[in-house]
Amino acid sequence: MTEQTDDPGSLRIGEGKAFRPYKHVPVMLGEVLEAFESLEEGLFVDATVGGGGHAQALLEQRPNRFLIGLDRDPNAVQATKERLHNFGERIKVVQARFDQIARVLDSDDRELTGALFDLGVSSHQLDTPYRGFSHRHDAPLDMRMDPNEDLNASIVVNSYTEDELAWLLRTNADERFARRIAKSIVAQRPISSTTELAELVRESVPAPARRTGKHPARRTFQAIRIAVNDELEQIELALKQTIERLRPGGRIVVLSYHSGEDKIVKQVLREAADGVCECPSTLPCICDSEPNVKLLRRKVVRPTAEEIEANPRAASARFRAAERLSVSEL
Ligand SMILES: C[S@@+](CC[C@H](N)C(=O)[O-])C[C@H]1O[C@@H](n2cnc3c(N)ncnc32)[C@H](O)[C@@H]1O
Repeated sequence: MTEQTDDPGSLRIGEGKAFRPYKHVPVMLGEVLEAFESLEEGLFVDATVGGGGHAQALLEQRPNRFLIGLDRDPNAVQATKERLHNFGERIKVVQARFDQIARVLDSDDRELTGALFDLGVSSHQLDTPYRGFSHRHDAPLDMRMDPNEDLNASIVVNSYTEDELAWLLRTNADERFARRIAKSIVAQRPISSTTELAELVRESVPAPARRTGKHPARRTFQAIRIAVNDELEQIELALKQTIERLRPGGRIVVLSYHSGEDKIVKQVLREAADGVCECPSTLPCICDSEPNVKLLRRKVVRPTAEEIEANPRAASARFRAAERLSVSEL
């Protein structure tokens, strides 16, 4: 059941739990709109539609655009359907993971003109206490973006080995104290709530690390969330399948929020721009794939200081964009 408030970015979502306004401020919106500005019409896909902030702005920017929005979170799908229903036929929102994007796009006859991936977690997910995404709220360990999936944070925390936990803390969050935290988790299980986990992490890091500005459990929560939702595994395939489906001149924009995500995004876009070739010194190059995009910016773009001040959650954003080559450029 949903109930709309006056603020179009603020929908009240309920599912037998307390209503919570759907609040998420779209990140680097100016840069996203600028990247797509020249694309007047056609089909767009927002692979992580969330609360529909970017999607709405893309539809408002040009009247002849159509958009398919995907999200694996049924709450996000419901919120965006409500928020954007005034766009009628111009918008379709489906619950799907973005590694299923090929199936979604192939069921539509139109060529793909633009694609947006705004990776990671939404403010709504972080700020909804019962979903267990945040160390700030006391809740059962859950962190599933799609509550119908089997794996949740409790299973990760209470059944992974110390080595597995240390590995995912390092890989998914660059956690310096990965081994110490993993050891404490294993020693003190079962752990049943976000508060218990947050306190345990705080106690297991060295005292000076407890006194820095941010909560020492922030990275642990990020790492576990990424593992629960298998976030990194899906990015490469989804980006490649999307690029393949872009029409010549079509554009893809990706916003990522930590180094693990950005590394994958950068590599996929670089390989699409350069082709994947082996060039032994005495022989001609052998290429598995030819270049099929040009990068719109060589270097990653970061949000402005003004945006970060207005929306601190934008601070870690990294923007990359590319354009599918036209036949004459191949
Ligand atoms: C940063 S938010 C997007 C916010 C959105 N751009 C807006 O303006 O409201 C990321 C969204 O992506 C979704 N998501 C994350 N990984 C996904 C995946 N593999 N497939 C589909 N949706 C995913 C999350 O559920 C979340 O709603």
